[in-house]
Amino acid sequence: MVDAQAKNSATVMRLLSDGLNCRSVPHSYIQPLEKRPTNLPSSLISSPHCNQQNYTSPIVDLEHGRFDRAKTIQQIFKAIEEFGFFQLINHGISKEMMGEAMSVGREFFEMPMEDREKLYCDGFEKPVKVASSVVYDREDVHYWRDSLRHVCYPVEESTHFWPLKPPKYREVVAAYSEKVRALALKLLELIADGLGLKSNYFDGELTQMQTILVNHYPQCPDPSLTLGLPVHKDPTLITLLLQDLFGLQVLKDGEWMGVQPLPGAFVVILGFPMQIICNDKLKAVEHRVLTNSSTARTTITTQVFPTKDCTLEPIEELIDDQNPPKYRTLTFQEYFNAHMAARLDPEETIKPFKLH
Ligand code: OGA
Ligand code: NI
Repeated sequence: MVDAQAKNSATVMRLLSDGLNCRSVPHSYIQPLEKRPTNLPSSLISSPHCNQQNYTSPIVDLEHGRFDRAKTIQQIFKAIEEFGFFQLINHGISKEMMGEAMSVGREFFEMPMEDREKLYCDGFEKPVKVASSVVYDREDVHYWRDSLRHVCYPVEESTHFWPLKPPKYREVVAAYSEKVRALALKLLELIADGLGLKSNYFDGELTQMQTILVNHYPQCPDPSLTLGLPVHKDPTLITLLLQDLFGLQVLKDGEWMGVQPLPGAFVVILGFPMQIICNDKLKAVEHRVLTNSSTARTTITTQVFPTKDCTLEPIEELIDDQNPPKYRTLTFQEYFNAHMAARLDPEETIKPFKLH
């Protein structure tokens, strides 16, 4: 009995979604002044639901497969150059499938604590992992987020790691992650074309890995003191994010810009490894996540990224006298270690690899 209680209280401290029922933000989650979000949109206090009037995100429309290739490539590059991201619509993945994925992700964090606890772990290498914050043991201030992360490629070799509950989780996420992978690879093909590379340039070890990350940001008593995720660039080649409530901000021209959810859209972001191999021709956008005080927010991120031993270096075709390489050669593992050691801070992460 005593043991069970001790075990439970340890778990309560590890995951926010396991009963942290507080009226004020615990001290270890309060961000230092300089990191706190200012000018919070009032929607975070009232309701973070979609506000179409304020809608300014760049959109790329795949027109259900009937898109004009050259025009679409141009749209993608313009969006990435100006905003660092875009919202992808009419991409061929049904709203039903997206909604189901969101439902099972949300349900996972609504289940009783015992069902999640089994998957809790601190290591980064596990094929499935439930955790809280970012690099929990190595940070002074924690972030207001729990997460479920697992491998999902190849799907047949991954599903046995996944949660058994909610009962539909494996079936729904298997179908979803295969569709999203195909979509991510299609986007990478268009990007390769736009860079003047052969269309299948990103096939192989650069995109061999894929994980699903379910982020869960519980309702927070005071969003002005906390962050769901710190300022970061993704450790991926490409990320496709599914969201239905507001919370994501990207840094545009030195200002934080909200990314309002657009029903049925994926938010597409390029990661730091992509920026490195593109020699800054395409950049990974800095982004962060705000919390809100009215409801929990769940997002589903699909991350496509290189194998550990994959070499990252500026692509030869993108280098010339005017564009000398900006980064030294490194492995993805080296990059990822730096990303973690820097607690996701983009400048710190990239320092050891920068040539100028
Ligand atoms: C991420 C991320 C944003 C969000 O998972 O890398 O930036 O709104 N997520 O959950
Ligand atoms: Ni991110």
